[in-house]
Amino acid sequence: MKNIVLYKSKYGNTFQYATWIAEELDWEIRDFSKFKKSEIKNYNTIIFGSGVYIGRMNNIRKVLEWFKEKPIIIFACAGNNNVEKDITDIKTNNFNKDQLAFHTFFYLPGGIDFSKVKGIVKLMINIFIKIIEKKKNKKEDEEAILESYYHPTSYVDKKHIQAIVSYTKKI
Ligand SMILES: Cc1cc2nc3c(=O)[nH]c(=O)nc-3n(C[C@H](O)[C@H](O)[C@H](O)COP(=O)(O)O)c2cc1C
Repeated sequence: MKNIVLYKSKYGNTFQYATWIAEELDWEIRDFSKFKKSEIKNYNTIIFGSGVYIGRMNNIRKVLEWFKEKPIIIFACAGNNNVEKDITDIKTNNFNKDQLAFHTFFYLPGGIDFSKVKGIVKLMINIFIKIIEKKKNKKEDEEAILESYYHPTSYVDKKHIQAIVSYTKKI
């Protein structure tokens, strides 16, 4: 039986991790958009990874529906570098207790580069930033948003795939 890494990536961070994981495991890799539900039966083990946008993992609703009878390994690639509260928020925003117990979840640190954002989302972010900038007493998380808006961050590093790769090799 075959194994596959599936990914949904807007700006390339998840794609980079998916590529490293697939290389390390010597597995097939494919954009989730090009994968069909009818193909699930052809694969033994499946890893799915995606970026996180306003709390939600890309395509997660479809993934959880498609894989409700087949446990898979899921990784979220988001903006922070392993901040415990953010990881907990991603878990609670995207999964219920049963789904978390059924699938295996990993977090991989991505980063944020707002200069890559285009179109309507860019417009909304710019409005949001202007509102925060005008506030006299900014909260800690608002300061953090401003910091990341003006200073892009990237925590993407091959070393972070260690946990998911060694877990996968053991199953
Ligand atoms: C508009 C926007 C919203 C985001 N929302 C979140 C978020 O709610 N939580 C988070 O941890 N990261 C958030 N991020 C950061 C992305 O999850 C991060 O850049 C991720 O690595 C993107 O992966 P991708 O390039 O594979 O799509 C956001 C980034 C953008 C541009």
